[in-house]
Amino acid sequence: MNAVLSGMYRVAPRLAVRDRADHLQSAGQPIEYVSICKRYGAAVALKPTNLRIEAGEFFSIIGPSGSGKTTLLGLTAGFVAASEGHIKIGGVSIEGVPPFKRNIGMVFQNYSLFPHKTVGQNIAFPLQMRGIPKRDIATRVENALRLVRLENVANRHPNALSGGQQQRVALARASVYNPSLLVMDEPLSALDKNLREELQYEIKQLHSKLGCTVLYVTHDQAEAASMAERIAIMNAGEIVQLGSARELYRNPRNRFVAAFLGQANLIPVAGLERTASGIAATTPFGERIVSVKGYEGDGDSWICVRPEAIRITASRPEMDNVVKGVVVDTTFMNGVQRHRVNINGGPVVEQFEQIISASYTPAIGTEVYLGWRADDTLIVADG
Ligand SMILES: Nc1ncnc2c1ncn2[C@@H]1O[C@H](COP(=O)(O)OP(=O)(O)OP(=O)(O)O)[C@@H](O)[C@H]1O
Ligand SMILES: [Mg+2]
Repeated sequence: MNAVLSGMYRVAPRLAVRDRADHLQSAGQPIEYVSICKRYGAAVALKPTNLRIEAGEFFSIIGPSGSGKTTLLGLTAGFVAASEGHIKIGGVSIEGVPPFKRNIGMVFQNYSLFPHKTVGQNIAFPLQMRGIPKRDIATRVENALRLVRLENVANRHPNALSGGQQQRVALARASVYNPSLLVMDEPLSALDKNLREELQYEIKQLHSKLGCTVLYVTHDQAEAASMAERIAIMNAGEIVQLGSARELYRNPRNRFVAAFLGQANLIPVAGLERTASGIAATTPFGERIVSVKGYEGDGDSWICVRPEAIRITASRPEMDNVVKGVVVDTTFMNGVQRHRVNINGGPVVEQFEQIISASYTPAIGTEVYLGWRADDTLIVADG
């Protein structure tokens, strides 16, 4: 063997498929996607993607319908075959390792429990498949049931459980064999809001108890923000931006990300100019808006300002950015007052603040000023 080949051998040992499956048994492994891509004929479900998810990380993928979320998850779990590229878990390629040997726990929107098995039998199933001795199975099923607070329903069948309880059983079944990775595809979408919030908390608790890596797909940006350490936003088969919920909210790369995560006022830019302190943008309706950071390229761009960053006043405020307009709508809900203001010659801008700290509540039809800081203004690329 020449020097180059023996060097490669040390870095990337070629393990038999069986050994590679065994290698996945340890908890909390990093996942690396290397130029992974999925095409169906001419249609691209996932463009070539590179991504690393850290061991033990709670990682969420969000994006509109058809953006490639389930495809990325399916490639990871092994039920979608890659068109190109590969995935490594714990540094070892999982190419050719069948789904049931990847040591990945899976939870989907529709529970997918076995209807003719009891709750206990459902949870025992993956342990039986792995040849775990009977006496150990009983203890592990018991522990798993305790973890999801369902000790007293072990002998019931799934159809005698509520949706929330069924999803807890699915969680127990997915985690009972200590997978190194738990993948979940919209696991809470079928549940009502209160139950969803309760289970979000339980899944977070489960994650910290198990220490496994979690890959969590959701439509719901608020759910991702409340659960995940990092979020990847997907659109049209690619990851548009990746970061913590705070980073994505504070520094969206483009209009799509700004609008997808939280609420954003987006005002078109007619021209950009570099200034000593940042960037100045002119709008098609003649206002000059200053910002400290953001997109400075030649393409189309937008001014992004979050509704809670805006102050509403009766007289012109001393702020970096001030526009004038007329209140067209007001609402008072959940302790928050919202005003929609039609900017003179421009778009309708939304502003909100806590009722408890609001000193001014103009009625519909009132002429008002909206003011905000350059620091809270971002210029974002189109897209
Ligand atoms: N088996 C398949 N054959 C052909 N096209 C497919 C197949 N599976 C998925 N696609 C296409 O790939 C793209 C990505 O689909 P995917 O299921 O990953 O989206 P998603 O982000 O999970 O959407 P949703 O939020 O609706 O679940 C879509 O355009 C979809 O129509
Ligand atoms: Mg999907």
